[in-house]
Amino acid sequence: MPEQPRDVPEPTLFTWEFAADPYPAYAWLREHAPVRRTTLPSGVEAWLVTRYADARQALADPRLSKNPQTHSESAHARGKVGIPGEQRADLMTHLLNIDPPDHTRLRRLVSKAFTPRRVAAFAPRVRELTDQLIDAFEERGEADLIHEFAFPLPIYAICDLLGVPREDQDDFRDWAGSMIRHGGGPRGGVARAVKRIRAYLAELIHRKRETLGAEGADEDLISGLIRASDHGEHLTENEAAAMAFILLFAGFETTVNLIGNGMYALLRHPVQRARLQRALEEGDERLLAAGVEELLRYDGPVEIATWRFATEPLTIGGERIAEGEPVLVVLAAADRDPERFRDPDVLDLTRTDNQHLGYGHGIHYCLGAPLARLEAQTAIGTLLRRLPDIRLAVDSDDLRWRGGLIMRGLRTLPVTWSSPG
Ligand code: HEM
Repeated sequence: MPEQPRDVPEPTLFTWEFAADPYPAYAWLREHAPVRRTTLPSGVEAWLVTRYADARQALADPRLSKNPQTHSESAHARGKVGIPGEQRADLMTHLLNIDPPDHTRLRRLVSKAFTPRRVAAFAPRVRELTDQLIDAFEERGEADLIHEFAFPLPIYAICDLLGVPREDQDDFRDWAGSMIRHGGGPRGGVARAVKRIRAYLAELIHRKRETLGAEGADEDLISGLIRASDHGEHLTENEAAAMAFILLFAGFETTVNLIGNGMYALLRHPVQRARLQRALEEGDERLLAAGVEELLRYDGPVEIATWRFATEPLTIGGERIAEGEPVLVVLAAADRDPERFRDPDVLDLTRTDNQHLGYGHGIHYCLGAPLARLEAQTAIGTLLRRLPDIRLAVDSDDLRWRGGLIMRGLRTLPVTWSSPG
């Protein structure tokens, strides 16, 4: 480990200042304590892994289990990790909380229903949703991009894709809102929202099973899942509900924050943004695709990957990790590692060597990455085309970041532009 210079003290993690800009603290950790045992705000002790090479290795290491229930001494068992209350058992069976062979079986099953073809066919609907949301505030010349745009877009999109009827989608918007609002705070609101969602999904799955029609191209995802399970693969009712739940929520707050953090970064980098706008005016979408990847590397929505637990003693980056101990891979730190990325703190939309970890790595690599890319490219491209002089309406220092452990995102993003009228 390099010697620590006296004038750079160890940063304090998880304060409000840290939430606003965690990158200097991550740079310190990468340099001085790349695998560091630390106490989280919840009181749980966990290892933070911050270097790219260690992070990539840890994400794919089969000795790090995703199933918190197998570790009776783990933080999860003490009720400090994940979803609280009696809902936990039911929703445990989702992809991010299980290991092979169950993970392999369930991932194969959902992959049959959640195909790149299905996502590509969904592009016109995402464009329509994006335009409708902008139509609602364009004349006003100002909006909060989080609440009026980045938040509703993915929730309506994933509800449509799953096959939640339109008339029920505003309920989901409310439940999702209360999950985000209570995310890092009191657990009661989350537990209530989860309970409602669980009951709703159980009923929806039941209804869809009853009315499953002939195999058709425009079938929704939940019906696709039921059909895949009816074709011989085994999927319990709980697993189906947990799958629908993880698709809703893994794909929701992440996308909100990719659009939010991404637009914020563009608004603060006028040269990069002008370049992207020029390309879009010329009908060239390539920079948009590369640019969204760079926005994800530069300030992605998943700051820290979800919980992992050592199933046996192992060594990461020279540190001994004991059996049962939790390991958190800090994607945001790994994606700014100068050992892997040239000028990592510079936003460069034309960056080519950009194998970031924003969608994770290994068997839990983001299942929804094609949908996330479609939504973020459509959202950011359309905003820049339709509101070409969009700008921040407040000083950056006045913006507040959410303080959660795993997600990184803004509470609000007030913007303004010259309205057409
Ligand atoms: C897993 C990021 C959008 C569904 C993951 C993981 C990351 C991630 C980092 C791995 C976590 C870990 O290993 O601990 C993102 C980002 C998104 C996004 C940055 C958007 C900007 C979506 C969308 C969906 C989705 C739109 C679905 C509709 C999933 C699922 C998993 C996952 C199901 C678990 C996969 C598994 O365990 O096999 N995502 N995600 N994600 N994501 Fe995404």
